[in-house]
Amino acid sequence: MRRTRKNSKGAILVLHGPNLNLLGTREPKIYGRETLAEINARLQAAGRRQGVEVRCFQSNAEGGLVDRVQAARTEGVHFIVANPAAYTHTSVALRDALSAVSIPFIEVHLSNIHAREAFRRHSYFSDIALGTICGLGSRGYDLALGIALERIAGR
Ligand code: DQA
Repeated sequence: MRRTRKNSKGAILVLHGPNLNLLGTREPKIYGRETLAEINARLQAAGRRQGVEVRCFQSNAEGGLVDRVQAARTEGVHFIVANPAAYTHTSVALRDALSAVSIPFIEVHLSNIHAREAFRRHSYFSDIALGTICGLGSRGYDLALGIALERIAGR
């Protein structure tokens, strides 16, 4: 079990769902040209500036994401930024995991899920999220992280 580091003011988990490992080459007109590694590095640097650990995790498997969320509770994670990707529209299991751990989270999507195919309009997460950001590209992660950092600072 990984606990929050001694001098750290807190920890944030950034969760990325299936196919987000392909960012940079995956449908760049929709998802942009930035890679996941670039996005994660930027978020981790922003966290470090405020003494907060940002842990990033990507999986293409639903069970892997569920396990990671469950582990977050015992690790002392204070906030989650989650892009469940395609599981947004299908996963009761991941929704239940987020409800079970009771860690506040913001749902992020790079694309505007309301301006695409009809099946993307429904999210299993929006009603239990603190808020949802979509359509702003990778800036959405920065904005969500900014809110998470504010919340941690105000604890
Ligand atoms: C996504 C939107 C989802 O509909 C899609 O399945 C993804 C990415 C986004 O970030 O825009 O994989 O979550």
